[in-house]
Amino acid sequence: MKRRPLLAGNWKMHTTVLDACHLAADIAKSCSGLGDRDVLLAPPFTVLNQVAHMLAESGIYLAAQNVCWEAQGAFTGEISPLMVLDAGGVAAIVGHSERRQIFHEDDVLINKRVRGALAFGLMPIFCVGETLDEREAGETFTVVERQIRAGLAGVVPGDMEHVILAYEPVWAIGTGKTASKEQAQEVHAFIRNLIVKMYEKNIADQIRILYGGSVKPDNIDALMAQEDIDGALVGGAALDVESFGRIIHFQEI
Ligand code: 13P
Repeated sequence: MKRRPLLAGNWKMHTTVLDACHLAADIAKSCSGLGDRDVLLAPPFTVLNQVAHMLAESGIYLAAQNVCWEAQGAFTGEISPLMVLDAGGVAAIVGHSERRQIFHEDDVLINKRVRGALAFGLMPIFCVGETLDEREAGETFTVVERQIRAGLAGVVPGDMEHVILAYEPVWAIGTGKTASKEQAQEVHAFIRNLIVKMYEKNIADQIRILYGGSVKPDNIDALMAQEDIDGALVGGAALDVESFGRIIHFQEI
């Protein structure tokens, strides 16, 4: 069973207001007429609102790159789910490896973000993935299972239709080293089976699992042809309209 593809661009810490508006407008142009797939952009918080205006009527979804679990309060440096919704966002990336590694966000904190997003009606794009050391030590499945079980703790079956998963092997992010389609498919299938065990087959069949890590125009087609890869979370190549446009227009091979 194939799910509706989702191509997502994570702009990370790039773009001023002007850059963001140009990029969003160009991307909106390049995906007009694409009815069989979803496109989502995750720009920095500072440009969410302007990008939302640029994307109006484009059908492209908007996401934040992180989100707090509280509606408001003394949480310096955080953005609440209500603020993301107010700016035009419908989703938030949570648990990105850059948050885990550089900012030491752990499974418990990430779980609060996942549940917080859901509580306010935002879709979490919940990221997991092993480091190179973990892969080489044969711990990929153990690490991914731990991250998923902890990140989804307390998430009830009824909320799972709003959850998007992303498998991003840390060693493939920004390195130009993509996981091979077989390596990616193997972990995606493992994740889907884990969702069967934690929830039920129906939920596992529906949930979208994106692959992220050096996704480029020249590897997207093969990745998207894999049974359990339902989309991509794209970093570097999402900042270039030609590359991202090509990725959006993937053709399974
Ligand atoms: P790159 O596509 O630049 O490897 O980044 C992937 C990523 O981290 C997306 O969230």
